[in-house]
Amino acid sequence: MKQIVFKFLAIGLILSSCSSSHDNYSVLSPSGNIKVDFALTSEKQPSYSVSFNGKELIKPSTLGFEFKNMEPLGKNLKVDSVRTREFNEQWEMPWGEQRYVTNHYNELKVFLSEKNEPKRHFSVVFRAFDDGIGFRYEFPKQENMDSVIITDENTQFNLTGNHMCWWGPGDWDIYEHLYSTTRFSKIDATKKRNHPDLAQTYIPENAVNTPVTMKTDDGVYLSFHEAAVTNYAGITLKVDTANYAMQTELVGNSAGIKVKTQTPFTSPWRTVQIATRAGDLIESKLILNLNEPNKLGDVSWFKPTKYVGIWWEMHLGKSSWDLASGKHGATTANAKRYIDFAAKNNIHGLLVEGWNTGWEHWIGFDDREGVFDFVTPYPDYNLKEVVAYGRKKGVDLIMHHETSAAPRTYEKQLDTAYALMSSLGIHVVKTGYVGKIIPKGEYHHGQWMVNHYRHVLETAAKYKIAVDAHEPFMATGERRTYPNAISREGLRGQEYNAWASDGGNPPEHLTIVPFTRMLAGPIDFTPGIFDIKLKPYKPNNQVNTTLAQQLALYVVIYSPVQMAADLPENYENNPAFQFIRDVGVNWEQTKVLNGEIGDYVTIARQERGTNRWFVGAVTDENARELNVKLDFLDAGKKYAATLYLDAPDADWNKNPTAYEIKKMEVDSNTELNLKLAPGGGAAISLFPL
Ligand code: NOJ
Ligand code: CA
Repeated sequence: MKQIVFKFLAIGLILSSCSSSHDNYSVLSPSGNIKVDFALTSEKQPSYSVSFNGKELIKPSTLGFEFKNMEPLGKNLKVDSVRTREFNEQWEMPWGEQRYVTNHYNELKVFLSEKNEPKRHFSVVFRAFDDGIGFRYEFPKQENMDSVIITDENTQFNLTGNHMCWWGPGDWDIYEHLYSTTRFSKIDATKKRNHPDLAQTYIPENAVNTPVTMKTDDGVYLSFHEAAVTNYAGITLKVDTANYAMQTELVGNSAGIKVKTQTPFTSPWRTVQIATRAGDLIESKLILNLNEPNKLGDVSWFKPTKYVGIWWEMHLGKSSWDLASGKHGATTANAKRYIDFAAKNNIHGLLVEGWNTGWEHWIGFDDREGVFDFVTPYPDYNLKEVVAYGRKKGVDLIMHHETSAAPRTYEKQLDTAYALMSSLGIHVVKTGYVGKIIPKGEYHHGQWMVNHYRHVLETAAKYKIAVDAHEPFMATGERRTYPNAISREGLRGQEYNAWASDGGNPPEHLTIVPFTRMLAGPIDFTPGIFDIKLKPYKPNNQVNTTLAQQLALYVVIYSPVQMAADLPENYENNPAFQFIRDVGVNWEQTKVLNGEIGDYVTIARQERGTNRWFVGAVTDENARELNVKLDFLDAGKKYAATLYLDAPDADWNKNPTAYEIKKMEVDSNTELNLKLAPGGGAAISLFPL
């Protein structure tokens, strides 16, 4: 991989972008649209504020820490010095939504120390980009601060008003909640506790998970998250609904410990993405830019891929993961059937779940330690034979490791499990962490698990294995540093439509996800269900979109592994399947053509290496007409367009599978008028002629 194409670095005082007086310092983004002001309060506590296009966007907000083994840190500080620099580089993604990423910011580093004993010192580093800001704490090695037990990181975000918010409850274990759309003052996360379909959930107070996205009454879009979480706990944001204020509430454990570490250490970046167009949040690469460059070097052994799976049939109840059920899905013969189907249809991956012993003790068991075995197939599944059969046909296996949230059992077997994969030439594993974490008292999003997930990534990399984690810790841009972190779940995925007792994901779900969860990173959503009513397996459940929207999701939702999730028999002889055959999975460029959070979004992506473009548009429960200009196409070139559209009478509930296919010749002057049905969508392929 060509790592750095162009790089410019200047250290020193940048007069145009940083100014100071007494204890006040500021830094401007490269274009000057965003300004961060730093100050010490009257109590000599560090505080920052942010303005956007000359208007205050984050009001003065204080910073500080509380510890188990030390006095709090935050007041009575002095500024020892400041350092500023400009940084500008372009880096290349080994796979991704686009090939090149610009990373351009101005940085202000404020060195602080306590005026009195114990005279601890640290710095706060602010980076101002044109699409938002990031800041973090850096603690050097020092005499009076060695081992550190953080009980609270008190980073505030004071908002300027009662913004409209798209939020999910601040759960320490799982992100699989529906998003709520409310004014800030109406956030009530604790009401979302104990959803009947969730195996675990812990929400100690009124807090939201990140990314959380907002819109001000002036039409400014904001999204709060974090970047580069390493040996630290994840955040939730505690909300003070009366004062429009938020503060970090780190995910802890039952011993009240949030982070246990040692100097020197740095916190993750606290991030605020800022935009005047909702779609710019999706195009922003701020979170990736705040992560370190690729540490793995060449990862061309991972190839972005579409895949099918012995998977949906389990969620439908047609077959089962465990052998004892008498309807075991992962048999050699069934795997070969899927391979034959994939090979015929330009799909090069196959996930097989339920292949290994242990599933008889999966859900609802407390003694999950030592249950799953990641090298021993059930007797009716010949792993080697399946791998060889697939290889002959150009279909590679995606390995499956469900840990049932017993990470220690998994860690013990990591090397043997990955050595087996390596000996078979398998380069992708889907992991899973269903259930409450063992040991009890640890949570999926706490430091202990953050370290586990990282350990898995690093070990996998040694074996040239890429990881698609389900029940993960939220992505924080680590795929830049570890490009084997290819995808993850971390939301209410398609599976909820098969079995959720609340009717599944409502039609608006996928118009919120691109502006919230997707800002964190790639999503293994598993689109492409054609049998919307799930007949005959699930008479009381259904997918709450049209078939055309299922196609659009291959473009709207980004992942370098995209599943064709439905049963092969539901695709056979359906002309709409041509779109899934054709659609790309690795992109040269991405353009968000339009969108409003919770209403609709249209995204265009250009495939790497082919100059083909694909467009996806989705709407919520409302029918919509969207005018889409194809001005992103190469000027002067003609393209063969195939449009997969909702039929005029389509409707996510009453008539979800009614679609039309239209073909036409288009160019960069063409403007399309797309009519989307309630819960509908449109998918377009554009091949250069
Ligand atoms: C939950 C995952 O999200 C799903 O995809 C998988 O089939 C089950 N766990 C079993 O591992
Ligand atoms: Ca809506």
